[in-house]
Amino acid sequence: MDHFELRDGALHCEDVPLADVAAAVGTPVYVYSAAAMVRQVAALRVALAAVGDPLIAYAVKANPNAAVVATLARQGLGADVVSGGEYRRAVAAGIPAGRIVFSGVGKTEEEMALALGGGLFQFNVESVAEAEMLSAVASRMGKTAPVGFRINPDVLSGTHAKISTGAAENKFGIPLGEAAAAYARAAALPGLRVQGVAVHIGSQLTSLAPLEEAFTRLGGLIGELRAAGHAIEVADLGGGLGVPYDPSLPPPPTPEAYGAMVKRIAGGWGARLVFEPGRLIVANAGVLVTRLIRIKPGAAHPFLVVDAAMNDLMRPALYEAWHAIEAVRPRGSRMVANVVGPVCETGDTFATAREMDSVEPGDLLVFRTAGAYAAAMSSTYNSRPLTPEVLVSGGRWAVVRPRLDVEALIAADRVPDWL
Ligand code: LLP
Repeated sequence: MDHFELRDGALHCEDVPLADVAAAVGTPVYVYSAAAMVRQVAALRVALAAVGDPLIAYAVKANPNAAVVATLARQGLGADVVSGGEYRRAVAAGIPAGRIVFSGVGKTEEEMALALGGGLFQFNVESVAEAEMLSAVASRMGKTAPVGFRINPDVLSGTHAKISTGAAENKFGIPLGEAAAAYARAAALPGLRVQGVAVHIGSQLTSLAPLEEAFTRLGGLIGELRAAGHAIEVADLGGGLGVPYDPSLPPPPTPEAYGAMVKRIAGGWGARLVFEPGRLIVANAGVLVTRLIRIKPGAAHPFLVVDAAMNDLMRPALYEAWHAIEAVRPRGSRMVANVVGPVCETGDTFATAREMDSVEPGDLLVFRTAGAYAAAMSSTYNSRPLTPEVLVSGGRWAVVRPRLDVEALIAADRVPDWL
């Protein structure tokens, strides 16, 4: 069931008319369905039930809003974090420290100390230099850091180049061929307890084949590492499973198909499995509601100038991403148009020659599948207020991030007295 549905001709999020939210909060505004997130967690749990007791560590970067993370904490999820800020957000939202995985190529000493002080499940370490720094920080604190190395399996993930992470030329992880030496070095470091391996090859993957190849390579490495005397108890298989954006395209593999593949490849490893899903949990639990400001004639198609822009939803400008666009109250007719925002760049284009609901100035529209990497990546470019966020649960809704207005933006700057 989709939690964004037309009822009496008007788009609702669960039991709340989106027009009511827009009237109260203004536009643009992100609206999230708690039920949709909970449903995704339940589906993933069922899909992974056959692989023992996996740790599902939600990738906080996908949507770090405190209310979203708290919703997922109540479902028993852990967190995958990539900064001190995300670590603090996860803990503040109620994720137990023992369920936090710390990923990322650029962890600083301060971030390492923060997580060591508060506790965590595992650091996914991406280089020998990082392992050495972590050991030094842990030793200074009288602690032992639980670690796994992130392995770069050198597979082509087939996703957009900017979100592909598992090829040899990418900055992520340790090459398979250097893993044995890295583990030997880490085992000799006093501040580390080497317990795992990790892999993450990219995001919005629409085929299981590259994941299967990466996991197979990881399985081979686990055997080699154990033969060399390392106790590998944890295998973190990352995130990356894609979600449907365009209903006219074949859907990505289901969580069930993913779970069956994982069981086939990793079921016999005798390791606790960790997963780091982000998009899968929240992408289709969110929409961006926007209002049509005006229609401007164009050479081939009219420009629909909406009040959301690339600063609110960067994915089309950054990755040529496709988001479904629908009227909140469809008029029953269709049109072909270019959908653009007010920002002064041609990149501020959400859709070109899109066949869509007919709309008129003042009408509300939604960008679908805007729960992941959307508000999280927004900015105030062009001095536009930061978009507010709303969480819906049944018939209730609440503003979970108010609009950060322009006065607050201006007040945050300082003009030196020598000017
Ligand atoms: N684990 C690690 C180490 C990651 O780097 C990521 C995402 C995830 C897990 C979660 O991946 P997911 O399950 O959400 O695919 N801004 C881009 C996506 C960037 C993904 C970065 N890493 C977008 O809007 O498509």
